[in-house]
Amino acid sequence: MCGIVGYVGNQDATPVIMGGLRLLEYRGYDSAGICTMDDGDVDIRRSAGKLVNLERLLKEHPLHGTIGIGHTRWATHGKPTVANAHPHKGGSVVVVHNGIIENYLLLKEDLANKGHDFTSETDSEVISHLIDEKLKTAESLESAVQQALRDLQGAYALCILSHKDDKTLIAAKSGSPMVIGIRGNEYFVASDMPAIIANTRKMVIMEDGEIAVFRNGGVKFTTTCGDEITKESRYIDWSPMKAEKNGYPNFMLKEIYEQPLAIRNVFAGRLREDEGDAFLEGLNLNDMQLNSFERLCIVACGTSWHAALVGKYLIEEHCRIPVDVDIASEFRYRDPLVSNKTLVIVISQSGETADTLAALREAKSKKAHIISICNVVDSSIPRESDGVIFTHAGLEIGVASTKAFTTQLVALYLLTIRLGRANGIIGLKKGQEMISALYELPALVEKTLKLDDQIEEIACEHLTSWDAIYLGRGISYAIALEGALKLKEISYIHADGYPSGEMKHGPIALIDREMPVFVLAPNDRHLVKVRSNMEEVITRGGNVVVLCSEGDLETGKRAKYTLLIPWAGEALSPVLFTVALQLLAYNIAILKGKDVDQPRNLAKSVTVE
Ligand code: F6R
Repeated sequence: MCGIVGYVGNQDATPVIMGGLRLLEYRGYDSAGICTMDDGDVDIRRSAGKLVNLERLLKEHPLHGTIGIGHTRWATHGKPTVANAHPHKGGSVVVVHNGIIENYLLLKEDLANKGHDFTSETDSEVISHLIDEKLKTAESLESAVQQALRDLQGAYALCILSHKDDKTLIAAKSGSPMVIGIRGNEYFVASDMPAIIANTRKMVIMEDGEIAVFRNGGVKFTTTCGDEITKESRYIDWSPMKAEKNGYPNFMLKEIYEQPLAIRNVFAGRLREDEGDAFLEGLNLNDMQLNSFERLCIVACGTSWHAALVGKYLIEEHCRIPVDVDIASEFRYRDPLVSNKTLVIVISQSGETADTLAALREAKSKKAHIISICNVVDSSIPRESDGVIFTHAGLEIGVASTKAFTTQLVALYLLTIRLGRANGIIGLKKGQEMISALYELPALVEKTLKLDDQIEEIACEHLTSWDAIYLGRGISYAIALEGALKLKEISYIHADGYPSGEMKHGPIALIDREMPVFVLAPNDRHLVKVRSNMEEVITRGGNVVVLCSEGDLETGKRAKYTLLIPWAGEALSPVLFTVALQLLAYNIAILKGKDVDQPRNLAKSVTVE
């Protein structure tokens, strides 16, 4: 998604900004641009496509100046062309913008009537013209920005320059993330800490409605009404992991293979074998508090929502607590029934997904208690939660989530143990058994990874498919959805996940010899039913690949291909089936020649609605 990097100090701004933008590249974008100010001259370079194009342009037409702003754009309003790339200039004002301005059409019409000419189709360009318009009567750039921001509806993180105030950089935020790094009298502004953390660890995290004005080697913070505010800086003690492929051909494969370690990291130091319990310090809830909730509600988007579905099965089954699962973009707008008796669990890899963050805020406004399951430390979602379970999966660069998902499943398993021990539904012995099963899991993931050659053979048979169906029952239904999403994302083959019992209610009409059907048939209580559902597909000529548990020599007999997945028990098998489906999607995409790390149209962290 869009990235912002700004700089003001005594160094040449261009390499600092380009270095920061490069660190945000993996998040997905489709054009880029940069603007610097040098002795009152404002100069902009923009290009469509990847940063290399912008770098090439900068080589031919270098920029100078110690103050500047840069942007990588993930198109929302307007195609990914040069004209729509940021920075945008309206009169004397240049802006880069993350977020969406919802009232931009009204503002644009009004500004056009006042004589402003627009050169892009974006909502963002309106901001530069609006500030420029305010500058006509405002006493300073700072005041013009404050006035303009009061007219904006929607979400923004902004960096602003104007040659009319050529020693000043302004940053502002509402609804999209923005942080400031400080090193002496140099300031680094970014939408994401990793873009600037190599320069400094002294950071100020901006909150909604705040403006930062950098001038004369100092910074002043105000509200949009112009009231000055004091902000504390924090020392960031975590180190961003380096984005290195370590010999793998791409990040996705590396991250798939990192799962045994990533899973170990989720439970390391969090298991109490003698008590049959999980120790989740970040929850900040004792047994009595945990037992005071009437119900749980898990909210997330995309792959994290699939983890939420697994969480529902685990918690309802093992703790007998009612759990609702919601897609964050739906939850936030339907006046959800939550109260101070609801424990809301928010799941997000990035911690910055706009819909998930908004859902969290909605639940908070209704007094619900919020805990998050998150990978990125210091991101907005854990910061705004009452408690957090970090998944410690490490940096995930591949846009299609792999290790972040399986570590979320393990975090939910730990939470299940904790909730069940707190309400007594999970006894000591069962808690201890659940812990033992978890200790076995990393080795079983390694064993599943060894199926790669077999999976590649199956992949070869499915390169020309246009569609695919994934079937699962019970907890495996969520994994069917996740398998289908992985295939869609990276191979661009349309795929759907269904509860296998639903086939005969409609989707079975799709079955013919061409349609691959991937059936998840672990050795759990649903196996007999899944076999019947699979038979219904085979009877109609369906092309079935079945994933069943090691030792099950029966289920695959009539399928075209069978993959035997290690058995980790009903609650943890979803992790192993997921790993096999990740490899399947990966192999199909690679054999089709797709870019698995940066699939088309996708962004790693979805910071707009
Ligand atoms: C799919 C994928 C997305 C994310 C979704 C939520 O592979 O990665 O569906 O799961 O955008 O992102 P987070 O978990 O960062 O909130």
